[in-house]
Amino acid sequence: MHRRLIAPGALAASLLLAIPASAASYSPGAPGIGDPYYPAYGNGGYDVSHYDLRLKYQPQTDELEGTATLLATTTQDLSRFDLDFLLDVSEVRVNGAKASFATSGRHELEITPAKPLPKGTPITVVVRYSGVPSTKSAYGFSTWHRTPDGAVAADEPEAAWWWYPSNDHPLDKATYDVSVAVPDGTQAISNGTLQSTSSRLGWTRYNWRSNKPQATYLTTLAVGRFDITTGTSEGGVPVVNAYSKDLGDNDGAARASVERTGELVDWLSGYFGPYPFSSAGGYVPNTTTGYALETQTRVYYSPKQFANGSNTSVVVHELAHQWYGDDVSLKGWKDIWINEGFARYAQWLWSEHEGEGTAQELADYVYASHPADDAFWTVKPGDPGPDNQFDIAVYDRGALAVQALRNEVGDDAFFAILKGWPKDHAYGNASVGDFQKYAEQVSGKPLAALFDTWLFQPTKPAAPAARTVSIAKASAAPAQPKSWKRIAATNDLHAG
Ligand code: TRP
Ligand code: ZN
Repeated sequence: MHRRLIAPGALAASLLLAIPASAASYSPGAPGIGDPYYPAYGNGGYDVSHYDLRLKYQPQTDELEGTATLLATTTQDLSRFDLDFLLDVSEVRVNGAKASFATSGRHELEITPAKPLPKGTPITVVVRYSGVPSTKSAYGFSTWHRTPDGAVAADEPEAAWWWYPSNDHPLDKATYDVSVAVPDGTQAISNGTLQSTSSRLGWTRYNWRSNKPQATYLTTLAVGRFDITTGTSEGGVPVVNAYSKDLGDNDGAARASVERTGELVDWLSGYFGPYPFSSAGGYVPNTTTGYALETQTRVYYSPKQFANGSNTSVVVHELAHQWYGDDVSLKGWKDIWINEGFARYAQWLWSEHEGEGTAQELADYVYASHPADDAFWTVKPGDPGPDNQFDIAVYDRGALAVQALRNEVGDDAFFAILKGWPKDHAYGNASVGDFQKYAEQVSGKPLAALFDTWLFQPTKPAAPAARTVSIAKASAAPAQPKSWKRIAATNDLHAG
């Protein structure tokens, strides 16, 4: 370097450059991404674009080992950053160089790279790890669900900590390659398309690829004895489903429901626009938990959802999430109405299609069956709080709000909004406020009062506001629509 004729300012600048991590501008990434419902979820300082998970799992002992390679870019001058993770880490490398690491908080893996990372730097983070996921818990719970033949990672709002290190928040979506070796005779199910399988020395490796942005909680893994079926919908969407070989009495009803995925994806496309992903389908593992979850491209269904016979309603609900929740993800967990209000409303549309009660009849029934002093009305679907995030009101009052919107703007504008929204925010994130703005833009109507009444007031909307649901029936006692019990069961079983 030429030291001659150096200006004082330039000298100061070169000194600053020489000072590494401790320099003022380099700081640790935040231990949370900034979601007020879950302050420690996700992290600050970087943005992940791709996860490559190369794993090996032994169902008999619940031992998981592997290497996660994350491609990311720094979003600040970074001295240190966190990943959310619970298993035991043996080595971390950042851009090829060994990094030091430590655990902190409930689920933070703190990584200090050998050299500080300027803002905008592409980074490759390699984490080698192993562990027995079922022995780990955070906040006293686990979302790693053991089955007699393996395990399932599927939960909301968190599932990743037990099986891969991540920036665990829907704001940081990424593509995935999930490759899992399991003992011969056992299958590994994950998101997207099955690129290939290979067998060697008693182990079979399954290579899954999900090539559209995907939230961490929508990334799933199931290991067990599965029967895998493949097909293509009439509309051209490839479908891959998987059924535990041990579903017993529920096997027929599970297949009679989930094998209709292609038909239902095509039907929903009529309302929501083209299916956003390169594969669709679901899996039914041998679990005892009751819920279903909209894991991207490959929905998780509890066998209990099929205990009373076929259940296309739950399939419609989870497939509707592929547009509302997966393609367009929430910005913060308070925006859960965008997921659940619309997935529930899709069940109402399906009920109407099946001749089991119209959406209007279901809305009237929800409105009439909760008296004004029912705690149901104290839950604000537009901001329910972390404890009520999956309260029945988020679903039913949430769908009621959708019907109120429909009646306010009319069918033409309503169905244009329903279809336009996933296109407008494809593969991104959006808030309830963004949805209101979009609906106002498409309908040309101011909707602040309507949104406030139906989503943000802790009270039962009274006439005349209630009339936006149904002028004729708002205060009558409408009959229970035929689909009602089946739709309600989608949630009863969530508690499982
Ligand atoms: N999103 C899921 C659905 O509506 C329900 C759900 C809420 C859930 N919390 C969960 C599923 C926890 C699994 C785990 O279908
Ligand atoms: Zn849902």
